[in-house]
Amino acid sequence: MKHIVVAGGTDGLGRAAALDRLAKGDTVVVIGRNPMRGAEFLAAAEALGGGDRFVLGYEMLDLLAAAPRPLILNVAGPGSGTGQIRWGDLGFAQGYHGLRALSQGGQLNDLLGIEFARRAPAPVRYVLLHPGVVDTGLSGDYDLEMAARVQAMRVGAQSVAQAVRPILDVLNNPPADPLTAIVQGRPLDVRGPAFDSAAAARLFGETTRLLADFGVPSPVGAGES
Ligand SMILES: NC(=O)c1ccc[n+]([C@@H]2O[C@H](COP(=O)([O-])OP(=O)(O)OC[C@H]3O[C@@H](n4cnc5c(N)ncnc54)[C@H](OP(=O)(O)O)[C@@H]3O)[C@@H](O)[C@H]2O)c1
Repeated sequence: MKHIVVAGGTDGLGRAAALDRLAKGDTVVVIGRNPMRGAEFLAAAEALGGGDRFVLGYEMLDLLAAAPRPLILNVAGPGSGTGQIRWGDLGFAQGYHGLRALSQGGQLNDLLGIEFARRAPAPVRYVLLHPGVVDTGLSGDYDLEMAARVQAMRVGAQSVAQAVRPILDVLNNPPADPLTAIVQGRPLDVRGPAFDSAAAARLFGETTRLLADFGVPSPVGAGES
């Protein structure tokens, strides 16, 4: 039996993966904000009988290190960034543009994964996986332009039932390397230019500084430098 935490597990891909693993007898913790979706998830879980990614990942390091096959699976869009990061305005407070924010968010997500894999103890695996576009709730606070684009993305999108399969494959058979990136079944070279370790270290520093403003202590991971 495995212990699985799904950040964003009350809807979409997280929900489908969580329910599958519950049905197979694993212990699953799901995180979400919407109480109604939470209650619906619990109802679905009962029918079976059965924050933040950054803070969550580092706070679980001890548990991960003690687990037999520890894995963090980050459903994302690895390797798709433009290489340009607004270091002075990571939250896009100035001149917000939905697509650029999405692109930058994808890159930052990759960088956090790179640094996590570098700092985590040896048995921990970190996987960035893009299943392709999936017809889920695609929740978010979108402006009109982004809302139209998100709607357009649904045309030809895969169903949740299809897209969850490669996610479950990775959960069942974690890769051997500390860091793996997969886009629609195709592995990416995580030593390539899209996976810049200097930028990853810089983002770790920026993130811990931001969290310190909210009173969150700096995570202490293996490979601290
Ligand atoms: N769908 C795609 O085409 C696609 C493609 C590549 C990658 N992804 C990535 O896969 C992940 C899941 O996507 P999805 O399409 O399955 O999403 P979704 O259907 O919109 O589900 C989002 C889940 O995340 C929770 N959530 C949203 N904002 C949250 C927050 N601030 N704090 C905690 N929980 C939050 C939601 O629950 P509450 O509303 O109750 O909080 C819900 O359980 C996302 O990271 C997405 O970027 C999706």
